Amino acid sequence: MKTIDRRDFGAVALGAAAATLLQGHDAEAQPRRPDAGTPLGPNPPEVAVVPLPFAPTSLPGLSERMLVSHHDNNYGGAVRKLNEIRTQLGTADPAQSGAYWSLYGTLKSAELAARNSAVLHELYFANLAAGQRPPAALATMVTQRFGSMDRFRAQMLGAAKAANGWVVLVADGVSHTLEIVQTESHAMGGWSASPLLVLDVYEHAYAIDYGANKSGYFDAFWRNVGWSAVHERATRALARG
Ligand SMILES: [Fe+2]
Repeated sequence: MKTIDRRDFGAVALGAAAATLLQGHDAEAQPRRPDAGTPLGPNPPEVAVVPLPFAPTSLPGLSERMLVSHHDNNYGGAVRKLNEIRTQLGTADPAQSGAYWSLYGTLKSAELAARNSAVLHELYFANLAAGQRPPAALATMVTQRFGSMDRFRAQMLGAAKAANGWVVLVADGVSHTLEIVQTESHAMGGWSASPLLVLDVYEHAYAIDYGANKSGYFDAFWRNVGWSAVHERATRALARG
């Protein structure tokens, strides 16, 4: 199986609509990612696990043990599962379908979950960095939408308290507003939205360091937000409007 090289860790997007938004200047420059499109036919090219984009010892409050486990086992597992599913999809017969169930349909559903998991984990790791403050332009965008950075933090982490999956700040391509989106599974998507700030709330993202203390993890996450990546994504997404 040929291995696909994916170097841009920070610019992946959710789902079909977001992929459509990326067509044009982004699609050609970044063609090889989990959401670049389902390969058709047998022996599909393999998506590769991308290394952590930071030193795993560099983020205060998030241990090397937890970050490496998260990356290798959870994100890496999603990529490996995505490749496995796509190999099976390459030979599954879409015409062999019953009224209520088909192997092809089940594989497509599993592919969506694995792809979203891979994409969201890449975005999550790419929006972690030590010691950053929000660029002034991003702070202005956030303040105009949510009232202040503190109110944005309260809303994002308030949503995270009740979530068991992901909380994502997105740029909505229809309303052209910033929104906070909560999800409970990987097989989802803010279909008109581009993800900007991604927070992983699955237990595997915090339990090694924090046990059941989610709020301790949230404080550590917030200290390690890579605001430059968030600003870059926001500028790109909102400019498409
Ligand atoms: Fe995760």
